[in-house]
Amino acid sequence: MKICMIGTGYVGLVSGACFADLGNTVWCVDKIKEKINMLNNKKIPIYEPGLEELVKKNHKSGRLKFTTNLELAVQSSELIFICVGTPTSKNGSADLKYVFKAAKEISKNINNFKIIINKSTVPVSTGDKVEKIISSKNKKSKFAVISNPEFLREGDAIRDFRFPDRIVVGSNNKKVLRKIKILYQPLVNKGAVFFSTSRRGAEIIKYASNAFLATKISFMNEIGNLCEKTKVDVEDVALGIGLDKRIGARFLRVGPAYGGSCFPKDTKAIAFSGDKFNTNLSIIKSVIKSNEARKSLLTNRAENILSRRLKNKNISFLGVTFKANTDDMRGATSSLMIPLLHKKGAKIRYYDPTGPKKEFSKLKNVFYCENISKACKKSDLIIIHTEWDEFKSLNFNKLSKIKNCIIFDMRNLYSPPQMKKLKLKYYSIGR
Ligand code: UGA
Repeated sequence: MKICMIGTGYVGLVSGACFADLGNTVWCVDKIKEKINMLNNKKIPIYEPGLEELVKKNHKSGRLKFTTNLELAVQSSELIFICVGTPTSKNGSADLKYVFKAAKEISKNINNFKIIINKSTVPVSTGDKVEKIISSKNKKSKFAVISNPEFLREGDAIRDFRFPDRIVVGSNNKKVLRKIKILYQPLVNKGAVFFSTSRRGAEIIKYASNAFLATKISFMNEIGNLCEKTKVDVEDVALGIGLDKRIGARFLRVGPAYGGSCFPKDTKAIAFSGDKFNTNLSIIKSVIKSNEARKSLLTNRAENILSRRLKNKNISFLGVTFKANTDDMRGATSSLMIPLLHKKGAKIRYYDPTGPKKEFSKLKNVFYCENISKACKKSDLIIIHTEWDEFKSLNFNKLSKIKNCIIFDMRNLYSPPQMKKLKLKYYSIGR
């Protein structure tokens, strides 16, 4: 099939490369010229394991093309995916200006029947508005607007595209659904469930999925707080409840506040939609509060571990991104924790496999180190912030030459008995 992806961010680029890899011809469009030049020169603007190889392979074969020429890409394609950002507005709602702009541009270039597929995360009823924009310039028989949300995790995006649990498509048009099913057939053949519903239904499914996962994590983080006070191992509790198939074992890992470009933004946006439609989504609102509070709670915990004497203490951070296998700092607990500890007099050294971060570049006593040993040398407190594989079997006694070095493992990568045997002062989450 001939496909156009509008927007070459995470979703557009990963999905575009994966669709091309399934044998389709894909035009990836972006208005940012530098980005398109980079891609045409085989350079990838985002960090995502496996993406570079996939892009190179499909670009070379001619199935994956990059252009700023939206007119050409839309006119040459039968399926047009809108994959633009929907950032948070000042009031917490999703800012839809890029989606509407894309819709306007598409409306000017409908030369034959087009299926316009919204992959951007948008509040319920946005599809109706996109349809209205396009129909102001075109007959309704010339196009269909449908919803097809993405469920790609940063760091695992290619795997999530290739082996999704489900493909959700929001449309009541049988002919259109048949076409979309053909597009996704290779994934359905490998076990993905193709689930069709109304357009508004698909829009809510996207937000409800993210909000539910965020709730699951926050719930477990709060249970972890109780476990800490009662000397119970939260990992056992997660296993014990996760074995109940009604609950499920995934997304029960305790740790820092959930972060990233999606959960914080999408929980706020769905809470806003609720208010807009006179529905108080009180559970989601309290999840947002609980998650925000977690950042200060963990900072406070680190201070307590150092008996609240931070002046000139050396604190090392292993990993600062919001999760492993990404360079993304959005919503990362470290971006609140490091400035606060620094403000109280601590000297911070950090190492992250994805390099130094601009978030900390202006802080006087915060330094990036190019490896784990340098970051941990003479450290009073080592904080494991992100669960990168390379942090999973460290020899702490060798790392910090300081006798009483303390470890605060915010991802529960190590076991307390193992650390006790090594005579290390070790703190983790919910244990
Ligand atoms: C999330 C969803 O998982 C994807 O399905 C969705 O498509 C995406 O948002 C999006 O809307 O675009 P992502 O934000 O990339 O993906 O990453 P996750 O793996 O979901 O992690 C989000 C946050 O939750 C991270 O801070 C992570 O550390 C935290 N988390 C996750 C936990 O604290 N515990 C867990 O058990 C799982």
